[in-house]
Amino acid sequence: MSAPKVKYTKIFIDNNWVDARSGKTFDTYNPHDGSVIAKVAEGDKADIDLAVAAAKRAFHRNSEWRLMDAAERCKVINKFGDLLLRDAEYLAQLESYNNGMVLNFARHFIAMNVDHIRYIASLADKIQGDTIPARGDLFTYTLKQPIGVCGLILPWNGPIVMFTWKVCAALAAGCTVVVKPAEQTPLTALALAALLAEAGVPPGVVNVVPGFGPGAGSSLTHHPDVAKISFTGSVEVGKLIQQAAGASNLKRVTLELGGKSPLVIMDDADLNKAVPYAAQAIFSHQGQICIAASRLFVHSKIYDEFVKKAVEYAKTIKIGNPCEPTTQHGPQVDTEMMTKILGYIEKGKKEGAKLLAGGKRVGNTGCYIEPTVFADVTDDMTIAKEEIFGPVQSILKFDTLEEVIDRANNTNYGLAAGIFTNNVENVLQFSKHVEAGTVWVNTYMEFGPQAPFGGFKESGIGRENGINGVEAYLEVKTVAINMSKKL
Ligand code: NAI
Ligand code: MG
Repeated sequence: MSAPKVKYTKIFIDNNWVDARSGKTFDTYNPHDGSVIAKVAEGDKADIDLAVAAAKRAFHRNSEWRLMDAAERCKVINKFGDLLLRDAEYLAQLESYNNGMVLNFARHFIAMNVDHIRYIASLADKIQGDTIPARGDLFTYTLKQPIGVCGLILPWNGPIVMFTWKVCAALAAGCTVVVKPAEQTPLTALALAALLAEAGVPPGVVNVVPGFGPGAGSSLTHHPDVAKISFTGSVEVGKLIQQAAGASNLKRVTLELGGKSPLVIMDDADLNKAVPYAAQAIFSHQGQICIAASRLFVHSKIYDEFVKKAVEYAKTIKIGNPCEPTTQHGPQVDTEMMTKILGYIEKGKKEGAKLLAGGKRVGNTGCYIEPTVFADVTDDMTIAKEEIFGPVQSILKFDTLEEVIDRANNTNYGLAAGIFTNNVENVLQFSKHVEAGTVWVNTYMEFGPQAPFGGFKESGIGRENGINGVEAYLEVKTVAINMSKKL
């Protein structure tokens, strides 16, 4: 595959491409070989101020966007879906090139994304309040109204998916947005901004400012005219964002912050299914997925057999250039993440976990790490406690469901959980008591745009997707009208 052409590298404000006020740019890389792909405009506070001002103008009550019929918003979002489909192959290649995502995976994500867009678009004209019986002759009803200008701060691990989830939900609700893509992967967000303009989104409704967290990101979270931040990324930055909201204007905050998700394999599970599911739950996208099943609890009766099969499976995964059609496992996003993951692998070995597959960097160029399997992992080890965000499967042993529920919940995270079993009692007990925003049974990592997604505990605040995801961009207003004849 020849390198996809990079069409956009500037800041997008009011449907125009502009340089950073400072004139600065930063390099963006290809994690396959570390080469520089392009220089991208580096937005900072001055650029965020301009973008927020544009979004504020576009949110004025007399603006084209605010006067647009909700059914028309639905058409515009759907048109964006059509354009995504038209450019799907180009966008998949650009995502793979800038992020290291395996091309087939990027294609699959984009196809799912189009369904997602259709669903969210269908909600745009179904935002409705209630009429409420109150005090006899007080006619009372609720309006659900867009919150205002929203700051959307994206992670690097799913640039297109994250852009689409957040932007489309905000647009369906009638908000205007300033997007800050991750510094590692700005290119697809810029390409999507161009598609939104082509779809008919009026100027100022969607603005995209590439840049770094402490500059552009922090300016957005402290901005007095930003009414809400939706963020996906680390717990550390999630906490900073809540602090910024508190220190500025109490802007609303939705946070999705990763996890240390438990996947439990009971002794009655079908191993021919459980082994490949468990592997994909941690090795997909090189482990760079917030819901990765990074604590794999296997029942003691089947432990040895499971571990043997898990190791065999990991060794079959084909590592290579993510743009090649047969590759299953590409590079980590950058050198920093690669080094961090290799550090966790060293800790795993030092703290006594048994390394049975992988464990090393592949070659000397690019950011490749072998799919790695550790057995005999115990709850107190660093690799069982901290989010690694890499291709490291940690297999722990347990004896009873009661025990494993307590151990699964013994973490500050609570994003996802899974169980493989054929016993309905196990399913009911586990799904009721595990502390997680999503629980999968005899499957893992399956999504639908209709289902709310988010975390318990430090895995986040609020939900994305489903009707809840659009509600997160709405304020409820109560209107009470005196109907009394005795005025
Ligand atoms: P990060 O949380 O620093 O970056 C995510 C986004 O936040 C980027 O757009 C970044 O520019 C922005 N950001 C950084 N500092 C900011 C600040 N002070 N104010 C506003 N925005 C700011 O995540 P990073 O450093 O890329 O990865 C660190 C760890 O976070 C990973 O090892 C992984 O454990 C976790 N992570 C979780 C993700 C998820 O899907 N929940 C996605 C990416 C990372
Ligand atoms: Mg960071």
